[in-house]
Amino acid sequence: MAALVPGAEDPRSPLVELSHVEKHFGELHVLKDINLTVGKGEVLVVVGPSGSGKSTMCRTINRLETIDSGVIRIDGRPLPQEGKELASLRAEVGMVFQSFNLFANKSILDNVTLAPIKVRHMDRKEAEDLAMELLARVGVDSQAAKMPSQLSGGQQQRVAIARALAMHPKVMLFDEPTSALDPEMVNEVLDVMVELAHEGMTMICVTHEMGFARKVANRVVFMADGRILEQNTPEEFFEHPQTDRAKDFLSKILTH
Ligand SMILES: Nc1ncnc2c1ncn2[C@@H]1O[C@H](COP(=O)(O)OP(=O)(O)OP(=O)(O)O)[C@@H](O)[C@H]1O
Ligand SMILES: [Mg+2]
Repeated sequence: MAALVPGAEDPRSPLVELSHVEKHFGELHVLKDINLTVGKGEVLVVVGPSGSGKSTMCRTINRLETIDSGVIRIDGRPLPQEGKELASLRAEVGMVFQSFNLFANKSILDNVTLAPIKVRHMDRKEAEDLAMELLARVGVDSQAAKMPSQLSGGQQQRVAIARALAMHPKVMLFDEPTSALDPEMVNEVLDVMVELAHEGMTMICVTHEMGFARKVANRVVFMADGRILEQNTPEEFFEHPQTDRAKDFLSKILTH
């Protein structure tokens, strides 16, 4: 598509684009002809049965996994296989996982300042100011001097979000960020995610929190057996699933 103004970025161009992506783990065909575009500011919720490839798809987007064929573009640029350029593109994609993978031997503050200092070459003072601002935003600035093990799961997950935001990512990936949390801590993490969505962050969220999906998702993507079977607005997807797989999946999760 041609740019509206020559040389300028096309505001309609997708921020994340997966085109004919294929991925195997040995004999196992885990991603089958994945085509997905995510516009700037869009919030996607990805759902589907266990083993359908949701995590693998997320991990390919910041190249924690390689792909066999197809193309993944971030802001129009194809993800390179390796090297310096990959590191800088990867820094544009923030990721928060199910298990709060904070560095256990570093303080909360150091967890957040580490990448800006090492990768962005920010000076320590500037990185600490930024970290404190982000920790305040997710409501854990009073915990800055503590070690991760001294925080609750919900607090650790909010630190993980602050840590990802410190790199000023263009898109945030969330892979079941609340599924390892005690129930009373789920909302404090979802609230931060809702706020991010309202601020216009582009987000791809693997989550079975249907309330979150209905509240903030622009689109629900349903995966099964390595394929995207449906993409629709939350209302349409939940009220009128098209495929038997989606109907079956919804009947299982909505009855619990
Ligand atoms: N590193 C790996 N090596 C081999 N097989 C893998 C690897 N990672 C995932 N798989 C397999 O790939 C398939 C897709 O896994 P993936 O983790 O992407 O599914 P998922 O949709 O995220 O499932 P869940 O809802 O359980 O998290 C599964 O069959 C899984 O066992
Ligand atoms: Mg998964």
